[in-house]
Amino acid sequence: MLIGVQGLEKVFRQGFLRRRVHAVKGVSFEVRKGDIFGFLGPNGAGKTTTIKMLTGLIAPTAGTATVFGHPIPSAKAMQRVGFMPENPYVYPYLTPLEFVEMCGRLSGLSGKKVRDRSRAVLEQVGIWYAADRPVRRLSKGMLQRTGLAAALVADPELLILDEPMSGLDPVGRKEVRDLIFEERKAGRTIFFSTHILSDVETLCDHVTILRQGNVVVSGRLAELLKSDVKRTDVVLLGADADFEAKAAELGHRARRAADRLIVEIEGQAQVAPFLRGALDAGVTVVEVAPRHETLEDLFVREAIDEKSGESRVAG
Ligand SMILES: Nc1ncnc2c1ncn2[C@@H]1O[C@H](COP(=O)(O)OP(=O)(O)O)[C@@H](O)[C@H]1O
Ligand SMILES: [Mg+2]
Repeated sequence: MLIGVQGLEKVFRQGFLRRRVHAVKGVSFEVRKGDIFGFLGPNGAGKTTTIKMLTGLIAPTAGTATVFGHPIPSAKAMQRVGFMPENPYVYPYLTPLEFVEMCGRLSGLSGKKVRDRSRAVLEQVGIWYAADRPVRRLSKGMLQRTGLAAALVADPELLILDEPMSGLDPVGRKEVRDLIFEERKAGRTIFFSTHILSDVETLCDHVTILRQGNVVVSGRLAELLKSDVKRTDVVLLGADADFEAKAAELGHRARRAADRLIVEIEGQAQVAPFLRGALDAGVTVVEVAPRHETLEDLFVREAIDEKSGESRVAG
């Protein structure tokens, strides 16, 4: 376990009236070595606040956490962490190369090693071509990539990335996803936050979803999505109104798309009998597509279930 968090809380006091903002309300989770861990939730959920506590930038109001076994805040643990803050601040009068080399030196690299490694990470994040431009002339996406390079330069065991895909176009987002995958293959553990669920669907081993300072879903992604009822879409050609009525009688929802009828079958057991019926009726089966629940579906369902006051924590 590289990160362990138990009942972490943060209350901010804001403004002249010292209004209480309960940003994080008792969050617990564990990050295992070698995992890609997605820390998800809408804007304002408390992701950045949690990350700031983990990295020692702010103190928790309650609860405990360890990074590499050290209680936070721990300078010793942070030596093994590459951290990219949300909207990374990069000195405007440096170039990306100078900035990344500076971060490398601050982490104890020197000489040829810092130069070689800086070039390698700037190439890796796709910004080597702009490595000599002043930072103030870079786009948001280029700054984001420079921040990523700085997080990687000292070869950390654990990457903590706050919204690494924000400010990037779809191609840039895919590149960052690929980079996270490569870095895991290279033996690193990656903890990253995002508010865009679809960005992480195929990427994470574990997800923890935060909502208004609370954990609403947490577990291995495969288990969270696998355990839920699957729907199968059957696409048919040559199904007439009679057939459609029969499908409705059996309790299946159906919709028309051009000359096709798409029938939604709930539950695995219903699929084979329905297909047999379709073939007997002389209807052509064009496609049988099992629809797995997406993270988006899960999140929406949890948001609705919230009324019952229960959260779903597994694994
Ligand atoms: N320094 C602060 N002072 C007061 N409130 C804050 C401060 N930082 C964050 N908040 C509030 O805490 C909540 C969680 O914010 P944040 O952790 O940034 O969420 P996220 O990163 O998930 O978008 C928000 O309501 C935000 O306005
Ligand atoms: Mg944030």
